[in-house]
Amino acid sequence: MGGGERESAKRAAEAEEYHCHDFEWKDLRAEVEANPAFSYHLSPFPTSQQAPSSDAWTSFHRRHASGKFFKERRYLLKEFPELLNIKDCVKVLEVGCGNGSTVVPILRSSPSMTVYACDCSKETLEKANEIVCNTKGFDVKDKFYPFLLDVSKETFPDWLFCKSCQSSHARDVNPLLGSSNCSMIKEHLVFLRDNQCCVGGIDIITMIFTLSAIPFDIMPATIERCVSVLKPGGLVLFRDYGLYDMTMLRFLPHQRVGFREYMRSDGTFSYFFTLDTVRELFCASGLLELELEYCCVISVNRKNGKKMQRVWVHGKFQKPTS
Ligand SMILES: C[S@@+](CC[C@H](N)C(=O)[O-])C[C@H]1O[C@@H](n2cnc3c(N)ncnc32)[C@H](O)[C@@H]1O
Repeated sequence: MGGGERESAKRAAEAEEYHCHDFEWKDLRAEVEANPAFSYHLSPFPTSQQAPSSDAWTSFHRRHASGKFFKERRYLLKEFPELLNIKDCVKVLEVGCGNGSTVVPILRSSPSMTVYACDCSKETLEKANEIVCNTKGFDVKDKFYPFLLDVSKETFPDWLFCKSCQSSHARDVNPLLGSSNCSMIKEHLVFLRDNQCCVGGIDIITMIFTLSAIPFDIMPATIERCVSVLKPGGLVLFRDYGLYDMTMLRFLPHQRVGFREYMRSDGTFSYFFTLDTVRELFCASGLLELELEYCCVISVNRKNGKKMQRVWVHGKFQKPTS
């Protein structure tokens, strides 16, 4: 077996091994809520307006510029099979792409489709571009477009889905190019054909461990912005931290900055979702719920052999067609 085949076999085996129901979330909840040591996580929190943490993320990426935090999310295609072998006309938007951990498996599975990817950090976009371009097995020319955007504050640029096309749901209607508020992609704007005003909207949005990084108060407006560039019938694929995930229970009382919301020592945020919260947030933006569940996985710390109970929320939502 050659190096490439070995790597493919390893990836397939890892994805095959992936499991998501090692324990029941309600059992964990009962355990946590009965344990006095965790009581500070449950108490109400006075309403607080948190400043967005995009600057903290920029510093985070600067500190980790080597890109060693990159880990391809190999389970992604198993969790979201709609990303498998999709047609070349399909457009995906990865919100908060980091170093490209989500982008790489998507492009690997369907190298002919187009992935747009935004992040609030220029450094991480550059790293993502480098990682994606150097990944063997696919040619990203005209297929990967990273761009700078703080999704907690800024609207998506017009070239993605201009207002005129959003309201008419039509394509190729206006030869005028909309203004763009992003910097990186400007050099790529040649990808719009002469008669195109925008790329015509997005078919699939992936939000993978990004929403939790945004202050809770700002989440509804952030989701609205994402939904505005989604075509009717388009999907949002969501995965993020679930309530009582081991990383939540490790936060100390002084790190609480809101109800179920914490600030790491580097200034980045982490919110922990229940299914109800996710449902309310996405359905309030007019999306329909297709799938929503906890993934509860026991993983073992390689160094000390300790078992860790991980909780993530898996969700899939659709924009109505009319
Ligand atoms: C935990 S990482 C997840 C990265 C990627 N989605 C993945 O699957 O690995 C969260 C990412 O969201 C980005 N982010 C945080 N706040 C953001 C914001 N307001 N606008 C855009 N990106 C943001 C961070 O820079 C970081 O790259």
